Amino acid sequence: MTTFDAFDAIHAVSALANALHVLAAVVWVGGMFFAYVVLRPAVGGIEPAGERLKLWARVFPRFFAWVWVTVIVLPITGYWRMFMDFGGFARAGLYVHAMQILGWVMIGLFVYLFAVTHRRFQDKVAAGDIAAAGVQLAQIRRLVGTNLALGLIVSAIAAFGRLWV
Ligand code: HEM
Repeated sequence: MTTFDAFDAIHAVSALANALHVLAAVVWVGGMFFAYVVLRPAVGGIEPAGERLKLWARVFPRFFAWVWVTVIVLPITGYWRMFMDFGGFARAGLYVHAMQILGWVMIGLFVYLFAVTHRRFQDKVAAGDIAAAGVQLAQIRRLVGTNLALGLIVSAIAAFGRLWV
């Protein structure tokens, strides 16, 4: 008769953590890909510009709520795997270190984007200051573009490194 011991329990949690980690990456990076590559050029021509800005003002809070979930899930599940399955910082592969460093850069950029740039953008839209809102939107676009590039690189490094290192 087989018994379910502590080792099996850790293994089961690791499997769940791995699935949640990948799902969080899919939601965050996939969401940025859709916003940046599909929605942005699609709504680019909408006139008057104020209507376009109002659309983004409705899109961002909904998407960013999900990004908050992913930026909490990614480090928790990533460090679970790092410490429970890989033996901690010293033993984890180079690709895992690259992932965590770039992951924290992504999270830092998102927190700045959310707390500073996005707040200013919403304030300007609410005040009807289209020109100033447009300046903030351009900044959001640069930050999301950077995070999208990093997210694709991190995901590629993770998948590549796993089988290569
Ligand atoms: C913030 C700190 C992070 C830590 C500590 C971390 C850690 C890890 C670990 C330990 C693995 C398992 C590697 C393996 O099975 O060999 C993993 C897998 C993965 N990570 Fe991260 N990660 C972090 C952030 C991110 C971010 C920001 C993304 C993407 C946006 C990401 C995307 C992935 C993907 C796609 C995999 C699956 C790779 C595969 O199974 O082929 N990670 N991560």
